[in-house]
Amino acid sequence: MTEHIFTNYDDAANALRIKDLKQSLYDDGEVIMDQVLVCLHGEEHKKRRKLENKIFTRDIFKYYENEVFPKTIDETLEPYKVSGKMDLVDYGFRVLLNLTADFSGVDRPKKSKEETETLLTLLKIFASGATLHHSTRDHEEVKEEVKSALRDFDNQFLKPSIERRKTLIEKKDFENLPSDILTILLVNDDDLNLPYDVLQREIAFYLLAGAQTSIHSLVHVFHEIHEWVTNNPEEKNKMITDPIFVQKCFLESTRLHPSSPIALRKPVCPVKLPNDNEAGLGDSVVIDLYNSNRDKKVFGNDADKFNPHREPPNGQNLYGLSFGLGMHSCIGRNLAAGVNSKPDTDPNNHHYGTVTMILRELISRNAIPDPDDAPKMDDKTKRPNWGYYPIVFSSKR
Ligand code: HEM
Repeated sequence: MTEHIFTNYDDAANALRIKDLKQSLYDDGEVIMDQVLVCLHGEEHKKRRKLENKIFTRDIFKYYENEVFPKTIDETLEPYKVSGKMDLVDYGFRVLLNLTADFSGVDRPKKSKEETETLLTLLKIFASGATLHHSTRDHEEVKEEVKSALRDFDNQFLKPSIERRKTLIEKKDFENLPSDILTILLVNDDDLNLPYDVLQREIAFYLLAGAQTSIHSLVHVFHEIHEWVTNNPEEKNKMITDPIFVQKCFLESTRLHPSSPIALRKPVCPVKLPNDNEAGLGDSVVIDLYNSNRDKKVFGNDADKFNPHREPPNGQNLYGLSFGLGMHSCIGRNLAAGVNSKPDTDPNNHHYGTVTMILRELISRNAIPDPDDAPKMDDKTKRPNWGYYPIVFSSKR
């Protein structure tokens, strides 16, 4: 078995576009990832993606961003308003999990702290299943835990969410039918014929794909912004008055800190790679997103520095390859990151994405790292993520 590794931007981008390379990042995580969108290939992938894509439209984003998410952010912030302090990692998990649950179609009827807590516990167990490959624990034990969490998720959240939607579908009450992933799968059930266990994993995977990724991006960008305004105090006010600049900070930080440092593929037949080598069956193709995003040839000599004034390099995105490319490119990118701004974009009528929305809320409360409690990296994973990031609000609203 040969491992082909791509660390420069152009080769990495081209490798992601090769159709005969199949997803293999989750090969050991079948217990939660088997037959979910990101693991499908070819026609099967195309068909499900096309269907789920119907939820990722501008109008639906607009509805969520204007009507649903502000309430969800406020509800999740409520417990911290009095204390004026929080661990941003913990809060990030709660808020992004709730936002993703709304969009995926997981009802949260109580909208309470306890309900979020239960969902969060389940999410963390699902995540341990998806990343089983890196786990130092007994793999069979983790798998049993994931299966049990899936059963709890089904009983407490998924079944009631399905029943509510099915009743509305039967009554043809389309006005009250939510626009979310679960609904689109139920409405198209006859065509898709998804076995129930696949539906269960698909929705659980959406929670993972939406929350687990954005949370780390949120904490990284908060840190980068704090460092930036500390070194460039003249830009502090811009963070309050210029939301498009805040969105650019997020995109730049996401380039430097991709939530998954690599993408992994395996050939379905002999494949010619961007460096002209051939990969055969049984080989592995590693696409190093972290280093490709810091390629000086594409992003300039300061490629490994945070610079929110960076112009997008020739035809490329400010966020580099952090949302992937090709057939598996992130379907939720606009939800998390909004749409790219143009020089004439009206800031009052712009789609910013969930992470910038949360950031703006924190900035409006003058959130800063807690001067008495230092942040720490997460030592439970090899990924360079923050594990604890205490912040305080210096103005309470
Ligand atoms: C900062 C936030 C996010 C980042 C950095 C991110 C990153 C990525 C990346 C790199 C991939 C490609 C994986 C691969 O090529 O193997 C991907 C795929 C995917 N993402 Fe995201 N993602 C984010 C947010 C979201 C959100 C909010 C959702 C949905 C609610 C989502 C849903 C998905 C799905 C379903 C796929 C699989 C697409 C397919 O296989 O066709 N992501 N994401």
